[in-house]
Amino acid sequence: MSLEKEALLRALGAEVIRTPTEAAWDAPESHIGVAKKLQREIPHGIILDQYRNVNNPLAHEYTTGPEIIEAVVSTPSTSTRPSTGKVDVIVAGAGTGGTVTGLSRAIKKEHNPECTVVAIDPKGSILAVPASLNTEGDGEQYIVEGIGYDFVPDVLNRSVIDAWIKTGDEESFAAVKSLMRTEGLLVGGSSGSALAGALRWLKTEEGKKVADTPGKNVVVLLADGIRNYMSKPWFLKSAMESEPSALAGTIQQILNKEDSSETKENGSAVIDSIRVTSASTQETTAQVSSISPSSSR
Ligand SMILES: Cc1ncc(COP(=O)(O)O)c(C=O)c1O
Repeated sequence: MSLEKEALLRALGAEVIRTPTEAAWDAPESHIGVAKKLQREIPHGIILDQYRNVNNPLAHEYTTGPEIIEAVVSTPSTSTRPSTGKVDVIVAGAGTGGTVTGLSRAIKKEHNPECTVVAIDPKGSILAVPASLNTEGDGEQYIVEGIGYDFVPDVLNRSVIDAWIKTGDEESFAAVKSLMRTEGLLVGGSSGSALAGALRWLKTEEGKKVADTPGKNVVVLLADGIRNYMSKPWFLKSAMESEPSALAGTIQQILNKEDSSETKENGSAVIDSIRVTSASTQETTAQVSSISPSSSR
């Protein structure tokens, strides 16, 4: 679990106990084992239990699902962007499986019984069916958070899922980067897995039929945002070591040309060689200066 998630819980007043990711789900030191021990010892202790609580898939059947259906139904079909007016395919990562199970029920019960539901499971997890899909990377640790398990949670109803795609960390993080850079969508790792999996499914025999039919709607669920993961090495590496933007050279040239005496007059600061000039209030100036004072410029 990321530092950001822990900090958020602590801010709400929670005690956070970290347990080893590699512990088997039924080991006493796993998150489930520790939760059970605490429940036994703490008077009136209760485990809300996302793995067995029927309200988990129900929340998606009655809220997330209808929201998606409404968005697709209300998007008009035009000659440039034709639409069947239906959710033809839905792709979502599976952790507890509550999301994908609830979405499948919501869509198939009335809106479109023919909808193809594709669940995404990381390599190293055992949720996918058939089980042979899970042999590659069996038992390996993966970095993407929120999807995959070493047991099948009760709330995951695999009979309402039509296809499974296994994804790896690398393709997931590459897809996150692509969503950020090309769509401006600041999403977390499991969203990258969902996109990478969706694109791979669209190249399967079934998927090609959808990809080749104008107007088909493929909905990919992006489960959370990057703010949950900003201290994670995979994100920092991707963001801070990315190739420079198209404007980087131009900016450098402009800054190199600038008259340094003008800078002294206005007051400025340098953050990684980008100059921030003329802060409008003293407060802002102080904040900027404290990042990296540039008194010599
Ligand atoms: C970031 C992220 N993605 C995907 C999921 C998967 O959702 P579900 O547990 O409903 O399968 C979760 C679940 O917590 C999550 O936190």
